[in-house]
Amino acid sequence: MERAAAMVVPLVLALCAAMASAAVVEHTFNVGGMNISQLCTDSVIYTANQQLPGPTIEANEGDTVVVHVVNDSPYPLSVHWHGIFQLLSGWADGAHMITDCPIQPSANFTYQFNVTGQEGTLWWHAHSSLLRATIYGALILKPRNGTAGYPFQAPFGEIPIILGEWWNKNVNDVETDAHLTGLGPPISDALTINGMPGDQTPCQGAGVYEVEVASNETYLLRIINAAVNVELFFKVAGHAFTVVAVDASYTDPYATDVIVIAPGQTVDALMTTSAPPAWYYMAANVLDSKTVPIRFNTGTATGIVKYEGAPNDTVASSMPAMPAHTDVVTAGTFYWSLAGLVRPGDPLVPAAVNHSMLVEFGMEQGPCAPDQTRCQGFALVASMNRYSFQFPRNASLLKAMYDGLPGVYSEDFPSSPPPVPVASKATPVKKVMYGDVVEVVLQSRAYSGVLGTENHPIHLHGFNFFVLAQGLGRFDPIMAEGAYNLVNPQVRNTVVVPGGGWAVIRFTANNPGMWFMHCHLDAHLPLGLAMVFEVPDGPAPNLLPPPPVDYPICY
Ligand code: C2O
Repeated sequence: MERAAAMVVPLVLALCAAMASAAVVEHTFNVGGMNISQLCTDSVIYTANQQLPGPTIEANEGDTVVVHVVNDSPYPLSVHWHGIFQLLSGWADGAHMITDCPIQPSANFTYQFNVTGQEGTLWWHAHSSLLRATIYGALILKPRNGTAGYPFQAPFGEIPIILGEWWNKNVNDVETDAHLTGLGPPISDALTINGMPGDQTPCQGAGVYEVEVASNETYLLRIINAAVNVELFFKVAGHAFTVVAVDASYTDPYATDVIVIAPGQTVDALMTTSAPPAWYYMAANVLDSKTVPIRFNTGTATGIVKYEGAPNDTVASSMPAMPAHTDVVTAGTFYWSLAGLVRPGDPLVPAAVNHSMLVEFGMEQGPCAPDQTRCQGFALVASMNRYSFQFPRNASLLKAMYDGLPGVYSEDFPSSPPPVPVASKATPVKKVMYGDVVEVVLQSRAYSGVLGTENHPIHLHGFNFFVLAQGLGRFDPIMAEGAYNLVNPQVRNTVVVPGGGWAVIRFTANNPGMWFMHCHLDAHLPLGLAMVFEVPDGPAPNLLPPPPVDYPICY
């Protein structure tokens, strides 16, 4: 009796300590028009709280995040918390028409979710149309016990670096043009670092991001690629990095002087300020992986790292030597060299696979649709296993699943590419059982035709996945299997599949919901480069609760 009581006390104390440390982090995002002068052009853009980038959300592992989104813009929109697992809160994933109907103009919705088992850098963005070009921000997850919980020495300071893309145009008009011509959006007018293009654009006096640092300290750079359609190189003149995490998953420390990052990805990198006190440029430019020459943004975004105590008349003089735009070797080296950091208690790669899928995807030329009034000859179409994904119009997939509403989607997404030559438009999902282990070989189709091929950053909502292997050309199961890293693979939510090549990912479907998997180049998403995993409820308590009371519905 006495002994039992003695054992209960420490357990209760431990529970109290854990509960005491979990906080509620609450924000209100007013999404509305904002006047801005950028690149010597005055425009109105849509942002959260009149900020570009929008507000940073900072939470600790175990906290609850509550964000009230008030839509004062003229566009229906949803906001996605990119990389958040949304354990039993799939209603809050913010994937337009997949998990939610958009928030209508003048309406609002409160997103609420727990941050459990996740640490590192994630981000949030609008998930409707091209609005995410200006509606985005950082989502920083610290360990439960703060910076002492990092698996590396706590840095002296932390510097968020959010890379973006800017159009001198209303991005909804850019999206409409993309559809009418059938050719996708035009290239952006500038790249940005924390919302600013820097001092190497034709516009004199454009905004430049500057950060002050102390000498001989170590800083944690939390780098996010929020650009809409481009992979990027990032460097700081005179400085090198140690990568310690990607996509909010710790990595084995990886030394490099260049960061390569695709839309949707994040990289946490340590940088030591051991250079002579001066001002140094940071720079970002485009990695162009296309195999046929197509116009791309050749600009360079710059920012400045200013050492405290640098002489007063200092100017930033040295630009980092950027890789050539076409340097896919440097990119591949970065992407493929990373390995996960395995700590006690971390999930291991599941050995037994319940669903083994080959998902082949790419772009092709299709017929102009009747509403594509400026389409000449052909329109671009994208597909996964020959299905060109169509967003449902009347109900979100999650609501349709929950209500058992027929006719919104079909459960026939094929596990391997059917032999039909032409992509058909449909809304197919792949249904797996709760707890199943899913392995997907993501195969980019090779083209010799006019469209060529290019890298595609494939993002999965709701789960992290292990990246077991990656390669160029056609996936060969016999060759590849021996090359799988089942010990310490990198863990991500967005993987770059090389143009005409492949990547193998594996994840455990341990969360009921409808989970979008799509190319994070926004140019490809409306063309259909997407599919959805349907995961029904598991054994109690793994049940999807009813939708929140203010959940936007559209039927
Ligand atoms: Cu940043 Cu559907 O994703």
